[in-house]
Amino acid sequence: MGLQEEISRHRTFAIISHPDAGKTTLTEKLLLFGGAIHVAGAVKSNKIKKTATSDWMEIEKQRGISVATSVMGFNYGDYKINILDTPGHQDFAEDTYRTLTAVDSVIIVVDVAKGVEQQTRKLMEVCRMRNTPVIIFVNKLDREGRDPFDILDELENELKIAVRPLSWPINIGAKFKGVYNIYEQGLDLFKPDKQKVTERVEIDDVNDSAIDEAVGETDAAKLREDLELIEGVYPEFDVDAYLRGEVAPVFFGSALNTFGVKELLDCFVKIAPAPRPTQAEERVIEPQEEAFSGFVFKIHANMDPNHRSCIAFVKVCSGKFERNANYKHVRSGKMMRFAAPTAFMAQKKSVVDEAYPGDIVGIPDTGNFKIGDTLTSGENLHFKGLPSFSPEMFKYIENTDPMKSKQLEKGIQQLMDEGVAQLFVNQFNGRKIIGTVGQLQFEVIQYRLLHEYGAQCRWEPISLYKACWVESDDKAALDAFKKRKHQFMALDREGRDVFLADSNYVLQMAQADFPAIRFHFSSEF
Ligand code: G4P
Repeated sequence: MGLQEEISRHRTFAIISHPDAGKTTLTEKLLLFGGAIHVAGAVKSNKIKKTATSDWMEIEKQRGISVATSVMGFNYGDYKINILDTPGHQDFAEDTYRTLTAVDSVIIVVDVAKGVEQQTRKLMEVCRMRNTPVIIFVNKLDREGRDPFDILDELENELKIAVRPLSWPINIGAKFKGVYNIYEQGLDLFKPDKQKVTERVEIDDVNDSAIDEAVGETDAAKLREDLELIEGVYPEFDVDAYLRGEVAPVFFGSALNTFGVKELLDCFVKIAPAPRPTQAEERVIEPQEEAFSGFVFKIHANMDPNHRSCIAFVKVCSGKFERNANYKHVRSGKMMRFAAPTAFMAQKKSVVDEAYPGDIVGIPDTGNFKIGDTLTSGENLHFKGLPSFSPEMFKYIENTDPMKSKQLEKGIQQLMDEGVAQLFVNQFNGRKIIGTVGQLQFEVIQYRLLHEYGAQCRWEPISLYKACWVESDDKAALDAFKKRKHQFMALDREGRDVFLADSNYVLQMAQADFPAIRFHFSSEF
């Protein structure tokens, strides 16, 4: 198969949702369809995550399992599908955001009873920034929930994207009878079954009397009324608008009962984008270029604390990646060869000889890689699109064992390279501040510093609202701002100026007082 053919059959995406909406269940059903697993219940990671609160054994266990579920590749028909896991629950972190930079599209899962929840809203913001195409799956139709029209309105308002239903439920909860497939004009009747695929009633169009026979006249009439309303309210589905990230097709179903999942998958492979061009600082890289290029979007530390080895996850952006070929690690300028790169197929890791755009390769590493690093066949490229976002929680990190300050320093550096959290150094007093998006990260950092680096630290409170990257075309204005706010100025790891606002009010006042300064909530501007 040629490079172009390989590219067009690849679909690399992430499933995002608020915890408990059904992401794991849906992933599992997709794997079942792909023949990657044979029984439901094989994707266990999530179950373990749920029970892991602050039990360290559990955290260790999770880290092992999450390597296996980080990327799930499988073949479906002619397509090669890669699902990238987005850690949720207490693990929700920078990592989740960054994974979104390595996918070409996403599927959002929403619980029909709960609607759009906070975590989903945040992740959608990242998709919007990148114009990532989005498909929405409204899940748990077998349970009582909200009116589907209300859900559509909420999706539009909360996710700030136009929606277009491509399937439509016939009742929900106890009276749920099935889903009408608007995209392909078919009717699927609901038979609760956790393992099997549903059977389909073949119909010509919405007026086919087979629908009345299948669901009864009253429900058939209601369905026709709903569909008429849909056609009246929502413009016809436009694939190009979806690909531009302007409209999200919506499917309804029940992941647990394998209902509506195949419709979703079949439509997904047809409309979802193959690997897209990647923007580097220097130029746009097309996937079909002969020369290989890729970037590290995730680093996973090994569980064995005695060997500080990790796996760097590299997304192939262009050309063909080959085992044992020489590639340039652009940041260091060094040429590197990889003897044992791994591919992730059906949850198994295995050594791979070649990989194509859209594929994720796991490269064993002993500390050479940083998040965002680029590998190429030789060209000096720097990929964009791996922004840091303002953390939500901040603490001072203090050394509690003066004999181990070097170890602590090294540990902090490496954990930050891995993208566990962000480090800011206060320009006024030189104190180190760690920023995270979740409380658990502080505990993980403290634990790993001790167990992997032999360094001890303690946290001291600091009350901060947000970290904003500041810049201005007016150097004098920037200097004046930095002088006025000198106690709240910090440097990030790249040496950029960051303003640590201690409240929303202070931030608003600063914005009003210094109109020449631009305040950014992500490091990419
Ligand atoms: P997550 O990864 O998004 O956190 O969600 P997950 O798939 O783990 O699903 C959360 C809960 O919702 C699970 O129940 C799962 O069985 C249930 N669920 C998923 N899809 C559906 C659906 O279509 N209908 C209904 N009724 N339930 C659904 P649990 O009690 O937490 O776990 P389990 O013991 O049932 O496995």
